[in-house]
Amino acid sequence: MNVDLVVVGSGFFGLTVAERCATELGSRVLVLERRDHIGGNAYTENEPETGIEIHRYGAHLFHTSNEQVWEYANRFTRFTGYRHHVYTTFKGRVYPLPINLGTICEYFGRAFTPDEARALIAEQAAEIPAGREPRDLEEKAVSLIGRPLYEAFIRGYTAKQWQTDPRDLPAEIITRLPVRYTFDNRYFNDVHEGLPVDGYTAWLERMADHPNIEVRLDTDFFDMRDGLVGRVPVVYTGPLDRYFDFAEGELGWRTLDFETEVVPTGDFQGTPVMNYADEDVPYTRVHEFRHFHPERHYPDDRTVIMREFSRAADRGDEPYYPINTARDRERLLRYREMARREDGVLFGGRLGTYQYLDMHMAIASALSAVANRLRPHFEQGERLT
Ligand code: FAD
Ligand code: NA
Repeated sequence: MNVDLVVVGSGFFGLTVAERCATELGSRVLVLERRDHIGGNAYTENEPETGIEIHRYGAHLFHTSNEQVWEYANRFTRFTGYRHHVYTTFKGRVYPLPINLGTICEYFGRAFTPDEARALIAEQAAEIPAGREPRDLEEKAVSLIGRPLYEAFIRGYTAKQWQTDPRDLPAEIITRLPVRYTFDNRYFNDVHEGLPVDGYTAWLERMADHPNIEVRLDTDFFDMRDGLVGRVPVVYTGPLDRYFDFAEGELGWRTLDFETEVVPTGDFQGTPVMNYADEDVPYTRVHEFRHFHPERHYPDDRTVIMREFSRAADRGDEPYYPINTARDRERLLRYREMARREDGVLFGGRLGTYQYLDMHMAIASALSAVANRLRPHFEQGERLT
């Protein structure tokens, strides 16, 4: 095969590796993509009836404090001034998230100073005696934010995310539940934030647009692996356990189901993301994509919404968030050792390392894989392991 590098997967990790190797190192890169489009989970498309850009695999918000990543991303796209905010509906009322002074004043129905709010939450959290190990997720959450806020904003939402009562979930799923004692409800606090001016797919396509890069869609690496591994260096960004035929068992993932609908109104909910904290509402949140781009001209009599449902993934489902139980972590250690020993194959990205990575983290990690592994391999003949 007349290529210097095969990249499995065309998400942000794979495309960053491909673009850097093609542009910086002059490598001829073949990108294999199982799906019928590039971009991995960051892929977006225009809903045909309205032209509204929708995120097929869940809403993607770009934010980073990494200057190198910001500079790199800006080579392929400009960004809007979008700032993300999230609200939640509980028992017919709307509250700002993440839990902040505004949420607390609204929920308890009166004005609190930051000190008063802090004292109130500390008193409510004292229900779980300090020094006692929380037995389950519920106790852990109550020990962090007290029972009233837990029951309103965490219990139902978490039960829906995991399809499990929080009293049956391990405490370790949450390490912190930040409460902001200010009225600031900006969701991210990174230095840079915005959405790609002409959409994610245009950005991703410009990364792949290089004479040394060939992208082959509808192509599963596992149909060709025997002809590739050992003959040409491979960067693999598919699921780690799948690469080794699940020899150490399956790594657990949570998946999402989405229901997209065109609704005959110019504005369904007045905001991009509305969470639903009530347990009897079956979905966890509703995305309304037009609000991601208030600067665009979209129809004023129709809008696109997407309801999101959450559950544990089976083997045929899209893996979205690592569950990371103690058993998963044991298996992961064994798979990592196998990956290290697999000569000529570099494992990367979200699926290849069993790690939740934001886009900016996937890009950062790909840039360092090129600098620390691929460049030494191509320029100094170092082994790729
Ligand atoms: P992916 O994007 O998953 O790409 C992997 C690619 O490999 C896929 O295209 C897959 O089809 C392909 N592949 C797998 N196996 C094979 C095979 N055998 N042969 C060929 N191809 C194969 N990040 C943010 O920064 N902000 C957000 O708001 C945000 N929201 C998210 C919401 C959801 C629901 C999810 C799941 C992720 C979100 N992310 C967000 C993370 C973002 O999607 C990831 O950072 C990004 O997808 C990582 O890219 P990747 O290349 O590692 O993996
Ligand atoms: Na390896």
